[in-house]
Amino acid sequence: MDLEGINKKVLEKLEIAGFTIENLSILTSEELSSKIDLDIGEAKKIINKAQHKLGIQPISAMKFLELESKRGKITTSSNEFDGILGGGVWTQELTELAGGFGSGKTQLCFQLCINVQLPFEEGGLEGNAFFIDTERTFSPRRVVEMASYRELDVEEILNNIYISSAVNTHHLFSIVDQLDEIIPEKNIKLLIIDSLASHFRSEFIGKGKLVERQQKLMKIAELLIMIAVKYDIAIVVTNQIIANVEEFLFGSPEEPALGFAWAHRPQQRIFLRKSRGSSRIARLFDSSRMPEREALFYVTESGITDAPYSTELFE
Ligand SMILES: Nc1ncnc2c1ncn2[C@@H]1O[C@H](COP(=O)(O)OP(=O)(O)OP(=O)(O)O)[C@@H](O)[C@H]1O
Ligand SMILES: [Mg+2]
Repeated sequence: MDLEGINKKVLEKLEIAGFTIENLSILTSEELSSKIDLDIGEAKKIINKAQHKLGIQPISAMKFLELESKRGKITTSSNEFDGILGGGVWTQELTELAGGFGSGKTQLCFQLCINVQLPFEEGGLEGNAFFIDTERTFSPRRVVEMASYRELDVEEILNNIYISSAVNTHHLFSIVDQLDEIIPEKNIKLLIIDSLASHFRSEFIGKGKLVERQQKLMKIAELLIMIAVKYDIAIVVTNQIIANVEEFLFGSPEEPALGFAWAHRPQQRIFLRKSRGSSRIARLFDSSRMPEREALFYVTESGITDAPYSTELFE
């Protein structure tokens, strides 16, 4: 651990006690001084430095605007879709893709795994992707198909996508715990969890497990948002849908799963649904910076596009 202006011996003591810059940054000085032999003033200084390092110190709105304009964006490969998102999928944000089966969530994730590798001027971040697969749906062949249509170096594209299968929520947390090593080491600029919903929904069934599920979801959301900001990466998670009992709330017979505790966490929430043929509709329904809008895009052999194949026009 490296915190400017803090004595080496104190840093060692903190490390031995299991502290990291992240967990220090969310403590109060009273909590820290009670856990380790430090006076309040020194504890305050350490927390301040940790927060500074993570960029969670107060900054002016003007500075915020300047930093925001420099934020990286990954193109979806559809101009219309990028448009409703303010230029694509942003770094330092948690983006949720919710939708029914076949709505295009996984296809969009594959496309983003390719696009994150593109040069900046082509809508990429010149970085790599990490795909946490909970449903064993990652398909290298499909990625090859998409990449070859765009005449990209297929081997390089595959070499720059890292995959882990998470077999349950416990395993998912343990992978997330490893991200501090994996992200810098592999130059990850996009992290995907496809799907976040599956294990949470299958492991915590019934009212008795609801509180535990909510707590774990809040925890994972908190960890993901912290990681997105710390490493300036984009994080995309997929969510399933459930029947909506109170249709007036969401205005549709279906709504994203995982409930209210989760609902407030992602900065961007996108609802995908099937339309005619290979067309899909993306609705940005909850965003911290963009209005609610819809975009039409297509899932074709070449991947995500703005326009269908010409043959489909005569369907
Ligand atoms: N090689 C391909 N060429 C053209 N379209 C394809 C191809 N592979 C998949 N698709 C389209 O993508 C759809 C599957 O989308 P996707 O796998 O993204 O669904 P999903 O939203 O992840 O669903 P689930 O909830 O089941 O995981 C298929 O129904 C098909 O329309
Ligand atoms: Mg899928």
